[in-house]
Amino acid sequence: MKKDPFELARSLCSKARRVCALTGAGISAESGLATFRDAGGLWEGHRVEDVATPEAFRRDPRLVWQFYNARRKAGAEARPNPAHLALAKLEERAQVSVLTQNVDGLHGKAGSTRVVELHGSLWRVRCTGECPPLAHAEPLELAWPTQCKRCGELLRPDIVWFGEALDPKVLEESARAMLESEVFLVIGTSALVQPAASIAFEAVRRGIPVVEVNRERTPLSKLASATLLGKAGELLPKLLKA
Ligand code: OAD
Repeated sequence: MKKDPFELARSLCSKARRVCALTGAGISAESGLATFRDAGGLWEGHRVEDVATPEAFRRDPRLVWQFYNARRKAGAEARPNPAHLALAKLEERAQVSVLTQNVDGLHGKAGSTRVVELHGSLWRVRCTGECPPLAHAEPLELAWPTQCKRCGELLRPDIVWFGEALDPKVLEESARAMLESEVFLVIGTSALVQPAASIAFEAVRRGIPVVEVNRERTPLSKLASATLLGKAGELLPKLLKA
């Protein structure tokens, strides 16, 4: 008889000493932050692609700052939910690497210590000029325009926008964590956005057991060892309980 997916997933997670988790907007949904697809990809009537691209910043930097100030405000009010906390607690008995597409910083707030932020962070800005990246830690509400104190060029969010490449070092670190893992969790992501999603598909290809947690099925579901359908905040504490 085929094993129940939850039992299979639980047995994989309880044995693993090295766990890697790829997370997406769905893990923060129960912290009150809208996912991209749930919001219909819109922010106040603007398509996300129209405010989260380098072209948008060149065309209308003020609008882009307004978008990120709104996201920083929502992010500052959000608290980690039981899904973030369960992953952080798992560090008591396994080495856990979290590869997150989220820019909200909630894994760090929950206490996870090895977090790779694939798409950058809401809590950092950087110079659009020649200054070294991440030179500035800035307050929550950034006035417009905010200029680099060193060279006077505009600052921008340290976030990977549509059409921009991910930092190769970040991708290397993610691949290493995936290859070392005994189980690969994929939580709250539509598994549609590359190259982040490809890390999960590569785990499948390498024969690493993949456990997916999502409210709905995704293109990864038919390849995963187990797909658990439901809310991450409800499923993960049960799945990762010691
Ligand atoms: P999406 O908005 O594409 O997908 C969110 C996923 O979370 C969906 O598959 C939902 O079914 C699932 N979901 C929603 N609520 C959930 C819950 N409570 N528990 C479990 N699953 C839940 O978000 P991402 O996959 O993160 O990129 O999107 C990837 C990237 O696309 C983002 O990082 C962003 C976006 O464009 C950039 O900003 C560069």
